Amino acid sequence: MITEAIIRPEPICGMETWFPIPAEILETRKENMNTYTYKIRLVDATLRKQYRWAPGQFNMLYVPGIGEAAISISSDSEDPEILEHTIRIVGSVTRAIENMGPGSIIGLRGPFGRGWPLDKIEGRDVVLVAGGIGLAPLRPMVYWLLKHRERYGRVILLFGCRSPDDQLFIDELEQWTQERKIDCLVTVDNATPGWVGPVGVVTDLLQRIRLNADNSTIMVCGPRMLNRAAAWSFLKLHIPEEQVYVSLERNMNCGFGRCGHCQYGSQFVCKDGPVFCFNEIADIFGKEEI
Ligand SMILES: Cc1cc2nc3c(=O)[nH]c(=O)nc-3n(C[C@H](O)[C@H](O)[C@H](O)COP(=O)(O)OP(=O)(O)OC[C@H]3O[C@@H](n4cnc5c(N)ncnc54)[C@H](O)[C@@H]3O)c2cc1C
Ligand code: FES
Repeated sequence: MITEAIIRPEPICGMETWFPIPAEILETRKENMNTYTYKIRLVDATLRKQYRWAPGQFNMLYVPGIGEAAISISSDSEDPEILEHTIRIVGSVTRAIENMGPGSIIGLRGPFGRGWPLDKIEGRDVVLVAGGIGLAPLRPMVYWLLKHRERYGRVILLFGCRSPDDQLFIDELEQWTQERKIDCLVTVDNATPGWVGPVGVVTDLLQRIRLNADNSTIMVCGPRMLNRAAAWSFLKLHIPEEQVYVSLERNMNCGFGRCGHCQYGSQFVCKDGPVFCFNEIADIFGKEEI
């Protein structure tokens, strides 16, 4: 049975923790020109054994003297002692992490937030829609669905990125496609020589799949524009609002609903999300300035 403890594990060191725990970088892997996956492990063996997380949750990663950034956990939630974070280098914290290698120590707080609705998808078809770095928070969902394949109907992954060189987890995408346990479709905005797959935005891929509107749950993670376009596209295909889930991104500070930095209408993205059911945010989803 999928219990609350599986869906929403508590942060290490209590709910309201401002104190980062040391974690060691074990390995780094370049995914594309500006994105790396970092394999890390909590230094304290006892905390490492206690630490649990669920697909869709995130950690606050801390670089001393620089600051913190919210980063989703991108590895297998059923192997919680080794954590992967897939990071696109955009600013001060991520640039500082880019300069760290195996043996470096970073700070970690978490896991925070509410992840994907593992408790509501048994027996259903599941469609995962990712844009760019949005594949990182959905990768643990792919692992979960593959490990418990018999519990679910059809599983479809739709992934869009700017160009073939911007893909993430390229070996796994190929493996998932070849194994055929899930249907995996990748599209690029701009093709380069040698690309034989679809060209266009990720929502164009909807023309290539057949959906059972009565029995499908949708999980979307990408840039704001994609989140909105994808969610509305599925609603137009008669998927009920309560079966469409979107992971939102806001500026984070505390991570546990105290500072207000991540407020989205009446909700806190860090605590009530980052994964929201469409019907929880429908009233403001079209007004991103709120
Ligand atoms: C719940 C959650 C999960 C996240 N998961 C991940 C993840 O798995 N991997 C990951 O790489 N990022 C993820 N992010 C985004 C990450 O937290 C931000 O990119 C963060 O601001 C990076 O910190 P920084 O100090 O390096 O950049 P900042 O100093 O905060 O930003 C520097 C500049 O980059 C711009 N910028 C910041 N973020 C973005 C962005 N996402 N896209 C384009 N421009 C941007 C800012 O506007 C600013 O101009 C997540 C965010 C949230 C809220
Ligand atoms: S980050 Fe502080 S309330 Fe969400």
